[in-house]
Amino acid sequence: MTATSILSAAPVQNFEIRPFDAPVGAEVVGLDISQPLSDSEFARIHQAHLDHHVLVFRDQQVSPAAHVDFSRRFGPLEIHVLHQFQLKGHPEILIVSNIKDNGEPIGLGDAGVYWHSDISYKPHPSLGSLLHAQELPSEGGDTLFADQHLAWEALSPALQQRILPLKAEHSYLAKYEELRAKNPWRPKLSQAQIDQVSPAVQPVVRTHPETGRKALFVSEHFTTRIVGLPQAESDALLAELFAHSVKPEFIYRHQWQPHDLVFWDNRSLMHLAAGTPDHLRRKLYRTTIQGDAPY
Ligand code: OGA
Ligand code: MN
Repeated sequence: MTATSILSAAPVQNFEIRPFDAPVGAEVVGLDISQPLSDSEFARIHQAHLDHHVLVFRDQQVSPAAHVDFSRRFGPLEIHVLHQFQLKGHPEILIVSNIKDNGEPIGLGDAGVYWHSDISYKPHPSLGSLLHAQELPSEGGDTLFADQHLAWEALSPALQQRILPLKAEHSYLAKYEELRAKNPWRPKLSQAQIDQVSPAVQPVVRTHPETGRKALFVSEHFTTRIVGLPQAESDALLAELFAHSVKPEFIYRHQWQPHDLVFWDNRSLMHLAAGTPDHLRRKLYRTTIQGDAPY
């Protein structure tokens, strides 16, 4: 078999990458992620992901297995600490949903109600996450993405200099009990689960390992304190950074369409669930790619 005939084995997909009229994000139209991607198709997607930080693959009527396989091309996958909400047969998929089945939640109903970057509370936070729409509400349910490179670049030089050497603690438990008080269906964590999520210390400003760009890396959801600062000073600085990091000029608001698969870069962005009215059903499947230790 010649090299040409090997290459022609995978059907060529003529897909387009269309940047949004927003600070971040692009949609990918005409690609079926369940088909094998050639190396050059993969390279185009990979580069677009680095350029736009969030890619929206439209109309992916694909199985959980295809979602998992596509995600794995970008790296090994995380298994979320809330194993209660794994999809049966696919432990790599976390169900994000407000649906209750006979009074029992089928998924994490309040995922992302505070701004955050996925898994920043672990020594190796996530590279990126892929959320696949299964069932969408007729209103609400948007997801917001804030560009943390832009947030860093928009800080005054004096504040940049002040925060560059700082480190902060991130903890999964920071808001857990508060969320559980509001949403009693949230499982009580076992000691084994608590042991999996001991706090991690991360740089306040991280460098993207693939592009070299700096990004702010603190979040309302998981960052508890700046290491080495008195509590009041730490609280004041974090409040200032949280407010700055999600200014409207850094944000893309995603309004979900049926079968969207959204792939964002947790090293460049924070994200937030805007919220779904309680009486409407919303269900998405998430895979989470493991990343490197931030520096
Ligand atoms: C997540 C998340 C936001 C949303 O799944 O990691 O934060 O809008 N979801 O569901
Ligand atoms: Mn999230």
